[in-house]
Amino acid sequence: MSEEKLPAAHAPAGTLDPFADPGLPEHEPRRTDIDEKAAKRAERQVSLLFVISMLATVGFIASYVTIDKYRIVDLFFFGKIGALNLALGVTLGIALFCIGAGAVHWARTLMTDEEIVQERHELKSSPEDREAGIREFQQGAADSGIGRRPLIRRTMIGAMALVPLSGVVLLRDLGPLPGNKLRHTFWGRKGPEGRTVIINENTGKPLKPDHIIKGSLTMAKPEGLNQETEDHQPNEHYLAEMGKAVILLVRLEPDEIKSKKQLEWSYQGIVAYSKICTHVGCPIGLYEQQTHHLLCPCHQSTFDLADDGAVVFGPAARSLPQLKITVNESTGFLEAVGDFAEPVGPSFWERG
Ligand code: FES
Repeated sequence: MSEEKLPAAHAPAGTLDPFADPGLPEHEPRRTDIDEKAAKRAERQVSLLFVISMLATVGFIASYVTIDKYRIVDLFFFGKIGALNLALGVTLGIALFCIGAGAVHWARTLMTDEEIVQERHELKSSPEDREAGIREFQQGAADSGIGRRPLIRRTMIGAMALVPLSGVVLLRDLGPLPGNKLRHTFWGRKGPEGRTVIINENTGKPLKPDHIIKGSLTMAKPEGLNQETEDHQPNEHYLAEMGKAVILLVRLEPDEIKSKKQLEWSYQGIVAYSKICTHVGCPIGLYEQQTHHLLCPCHQSTFDLADDGAVVFGPAARSLPQLKITVNESTGFLEAVGDFAEPVGPSFWERG
């Protein structure tokens, strides 16, 4: 019977052609291994990286405390960007990068680079192996020179101790409590029955009832809420106010509306609801005309616009707040009457 060569997966143990063990290449000492001056220079470079990391962390904290969160800077190719976000990102990036770069440079230039053969063994180590492991660890620690190089040791500990402070200072954003700020929106600035013209968010023009077409979803904002102030300066409160005031207008058949209050707050079947999901505040934007359901893309909370904005599916715990609207008889524009009756958006402690 001729001897057939089996595929490797089926060959009996010990019958495969052995590979020649290439062995370890001859160890070549690095410059820092043989030149004490080069080693010192590398030590200073590593320490410098850790010091830069420390300075960057201090810069992060200083930026957080001193830069106005509404300040915008113009970065040519990147366009306009928040100065605070830019400063926090750059300083934190430098702090983390320098710790990583310092560690890599240290390992490549100063820690021992003797090649080691590690034999494979069973998962559970024998007591002797564990002892050997501890000895090797201690040997590695000794080889790294951490005991002999106090400059690196201290600067590394300093850099690593300071970096977590970046996270600690951000805790400041947990306070102060918002108080009344979340209870009022731009719609209510003229008082409880004050009227505000409803502006189409896309065109910037006032809306009339016949602009709201059945099956469409119209995003709108209050008149007077603009990106620029009247003297053409950037409106630093624009995003915060828009985040609370933005609404969606939908046209329903008046007889589809289930609740009396909802009907009274609508105009000829046009209803206005907050666009901000009551789960965790994503902007809602998917509308099913047949079911009158509004779907939040974040976690699929679904609200029934024909039933007071009630939650019919998903994690949201509260209905969407409705805004009372009417029409101005002389101009024909849709107007909001006062503010939302309840806070918009997700839960907060004192919402009640
Ligand atoms: S934010 Fe809308 S479902 Fe979670």
